Amino acid sequence: MAIIAPSILSADFANLQRDIEMINKSKADWFHIDIMDGVFVPNISFGFPVLSAIAKHAKKPLDVHLMIVQPEKYITRFRDAGANVLTVHLEACPHLHRCIQEIKQAGMQAGVAINPHTPVSMLEDIISEIDLVCMMSVNPGFGGQKFIDHTFEKCRMLNDITSKRNVSVKIEIDGGVDLINAAALVKAGADVLVAGNTVFSSKDPLATIEELKSF
Ligand code: DX5
Ligand code: ZN
Repeated sequence: MAIIAPSILSADFANLQRDIEMINKSKADWFHIDIMDGVFVPNISFGFPVLSAIAKHAKKPLDVHLMIVQPEKYITRFRDAGANVLTVHLEACPHLHRCIQEIKQAGMQAGVAINPHTPVSMLEDIISEIDLVCMMSVNPGFGGQKFIDHTFEKCRMLNDITSKRNVSVKIEIDGGVDLINAAALVKAGADVLVAGNTVFSSKDPLATIEELKSF
C-alpha cells in the first residue's frame, strides 16, 4: 500500500479550499505541491502566499516539490509557509549535499528529484542522507502528461541501490500515474504515488484515491 499524494497543480484554483477539503476527507496521505519558476521548467505555478493558504486548510503533510533554480535560497521560507517534505532537483543544485543538510536542519524531510534522463546512479553518494527520491516519470513542468515507461526500470535499479546500502528512502513516482500503471509501480518498489490529473479529472475523486490506495 503506497502513500498517495494528490497533486494540487491539477486542482481548481478558483475553488482551492473545496479541493483541499476533499483531500482532507479522502484516503490520501499527503498533499503534493509543485512550485515552478519558469526558469528550471518552462512553466510558472505559484509561490509562498498560495502555499501558506493551502497550509491553513490542509490537515495532511505538505510534500513540496521545487522545480526552481537556486532552491537553497528559500529553504526556511518554505518551512515557514508549511512544507513538511521539501524536495529539490538534483539538476538544479550544484551543492546538493549542503542543501540537503540545510533542509534537515530546518526540521523538514529532505527529498531529491531526478529528471527522466538522469540516471539513478547519480544518487549513490547522497542516498544515505535523504528521506525521499522523487523520480520524475514525465518531464517536469506540466500535469496531465504521458507516463514514461523507462521509469519502471529506474525504479528497480534504485531499489537495488537502497537495499545494497541498507538505507530506507521513500521512492516517489511523479507524473502520469494512473489506475492502470499504479499497481505495477507499487510492485516495482514505489512508496509514494503522486497523482494530479488522475484524481482531479475523475468524476469521483474520493473513489479514485481509494482505488490508488488499494494497490
Ligand atoms: C510535473 C509535476 C507533477 C504533476 C503531476 O511537473 O511535478 O507533480 O503535477 O501531474 P499528473 O499526475 O497529472 O501527471
Ligand atoms: Zn511534482
